[in-house]
Amino acid sequence: MIVNGLRNYAKLKGNMPTINFILADGTEHAIDGEVGTPVMYLAKRNELSGILAECGGMCCCATCHVHIDPRWISKLPKMEDDEQETLEFAEGVDDMSRLSCQIKITDEIDGLIVHVPEFQYFPAAKNER
Ligand code: FES
Repeated sequence: MIVNGLRNYAKLKGNMPTINFILADGTEHAIDGEVGTPVMYLAKRNELSGILAECGGMCCCATCHVHIDPRWISKLPKMEDDEQETLEFAEGVDDMSRLSCQIKITDEIDGLIVHVPEFQYFPAAKNER
């Protein structure tokens, strides 16, 4: 029975690459996600702090900003123009910055390491400062 369970898990795992989130407080979360799912959805579904995703993945809020581990940045598909433009609204953008709603989980990024920033820029909050 246990063997069947492990076999089924292994079969399932074939379509469930692992994404490693490192939060601002240093905690690490290795979470398996379905191929085709945006990395942002995985974070939200698992209630990880630091990713707000106010626009729900429409690429217009920049509150899903993350920093990709330098070892992984070249393995991701290139940014589309709309991601690049929206990313301009995020704080602390650097060469490793991406919007997690625009990164789809694939087998090729199994093991991806994503650093979640401490803060996300959101216009309403910014205006209150
Ligand atoms: S969730 Fe809004 S830009 Fe990614």
